[in-house]
Amino acid sequence: MQETSGYDPNYVMGRSTAETDRLKRQSQLYDASTSQLLREAGLLPGMKVLDVGSGAGNVSFIAASLVGESGAIVGVDSNPAIVAEAASTARSLGLSQVSFRAGDISTIELERDFDAVIGRLVLIYVRDPAALVRQLLGHLKPDGIVAFQDLDWGEGPIADPPSLLLSQAWSTVKEMFRRAGLNNRMGLSLHGAFVAAGLPAPRMSLFAPAGGGADFDGYDYMASGLRSNLPHIVKLGVATEADLALDSFADRLRAEVVAMEGVFALPTFVSAWSRKQAG
Ligand SMILES: C[S@@+](CC[C@H](N)C(=O)[O-])C[C@H]1O[C@@H](n2cnc3c(N)ncnc32)[C@H](O)[C@@H]1O
Repeated sequence: MQETSGYDPNYVMGRSTAETDRLKRQSQLYDASTSQLLREAGLLPGMKVLDVGSGAGNVSFIAASLVGESGAIVGVDSNPAIVAEAASTARSLGLSQVSFRAGDISTIELERDFDAVIGRLVLIYVRDPAALVRQLLGHLKPDGIVAFQDLDWGEGPIADPPSLLLSQAWSTVKEMFRRAGLNNRMGLSLHGAFVAAGLPAPRMSLFAPAGGGADFDGYDYMASGLRSNLPHIVKLGVATEADLALDSFADRLRAEVVAMEGVFALPTFVSAWSRKQAG
């Protein structure tokens, strides 16, 4: 994987309580779509699966529920702290078929007999996603599955009526990715990355949780996403901590949307899946 100068996802995915809470909220909002991707891609009992950029292990644990006890999941992440956390969660869940290894996915030694290579929210941090996908094909059996899910920040938020605060937050994150030299449309770009890697054009689908009203989880999710990215937002000169006033962000967004009787969609996850051609 290429280095990501100016943007260190390992730092973003630190082990603070706030980050752990964010990951839990993200799981509740998005894991069903990841499960659907892995089913549609063809994960079956007994398969051996490589989870790229496995983070706290959520995607590996979803995959484990599909491959069962006769299968195996290997999660790889360059952040040793989060690998230790994922391994401890696997132990507490009794998932002995799931293991995690610390290392950079582009340099770590791995077997070449995987049935599937999967990953969520990892290619967006890579400077040349097609090159990485092409390299990962070397770990797959012929006809092996390739399934990735990534963010697409689109033109702006889907909201009715438009929310000024939401639009500002959206622009802030998009600009942060742009200044870091990363692709904030990685979700839809999965198509081009797969094809450039030599795969048949992927099947694709989109998912975004949406809601409104006082109890929607989306206000806190947007605030926690901004908080996780705050060091980069500030470092890259996109906004200051004072500009974002994160302590009150969720409440201000909730008040604005509820007052307008509005509804909005959270960032879109794009799923793409294909199979390595034999020969
Ligand atoms: C946004 S997190 C996603 C975690 C997990 N896939 C999920 O969806 O919950 C991205 C993860 O990719 C990992 N990562 C980034 N670059 C990597 C690389 N070159 N090799 C291995 N892991 C990497 C980061 O350490 C981080 O844990």
